[in-house]
Amino acid sequence: MHKRNRLFVSIALMYGLLGGAIAILRLIDPNLIPGNVPRLHGHVMLLGFILMMIYGIALHVLPRFGGFPLYSERMADWQLYAANSGLPLMMGGWLRFSDGWVIAGGILSYMAIVLFGLNMILTVRQRGKA
Ligand code: HEM
Ligand code: HEM
Repeated sequence: MHKRNRLFVSIALMYGLLGGAIAILRLIDPNLIPGNVPRLHGHVMLLGFILMMIYGIALHVLPRFGGFPLYSERMADWQLYAANSGLPLMMGGWLRFSDGWVIAGGILSYMAIVLFGLNMILTVRQRGKA
């Protein structure tokens, strides 16, 4: 498995642990963590745990289904950077009620989704051409 894809899966597991801890702390004492904690927990779980896991597994598995290489390893590297700078920014934004941070992080998270989608479409297209 490519080091980057393994990294996606490891990071996903860490976000899962973090998101669970945030929710449990919130249930123990709602004042322990400042900010919009439900939003923070929800997106750490969905963008962090679930989506990063999908990224890591899909980047590994989908090209292998067709027996063709991933269209661009560099695009997938930038996807990793965008996703993992975007989500922390969004988290910071929800912790300090800063819409600006959430917007900036959201744009980066969205860019990661776009890069992933493009890379997957172009990978499958190579298959169509062959
Ligand atoms: C580890 C176990 C989990 C616990 C203890 C937990 C607990 C909670 C609690 C207490 C809330 C409501 C917070 C509030 O309104 O004060 C919540 C909301 C939410 N949770 Fe979880 N949760 C867990 C796992 C997950 C997972 C695995 C996902 C998604 C993959 C998830 C997604 C969400 C979402 C989307 C919300 C709504 C956030 C919002 O209103 O913006 N949770 N969770
Ligand atoms: C591109 C990255 C994303 C950004 C910038 C983003 C931003 C936001 C914002 C600002 C809200 C609050 C909306 C409001 O209160 O008016 C929200 C709510 C929510 N988002 Fe996201 N989000 C993103 C990705 C996702 C993804 C991928 C999922 C699910 C897989 C998701 C699930 C949710 C859920 C369940 C809520 C709560 C809706 C509710 O309380 O009615 N988000 N998101």
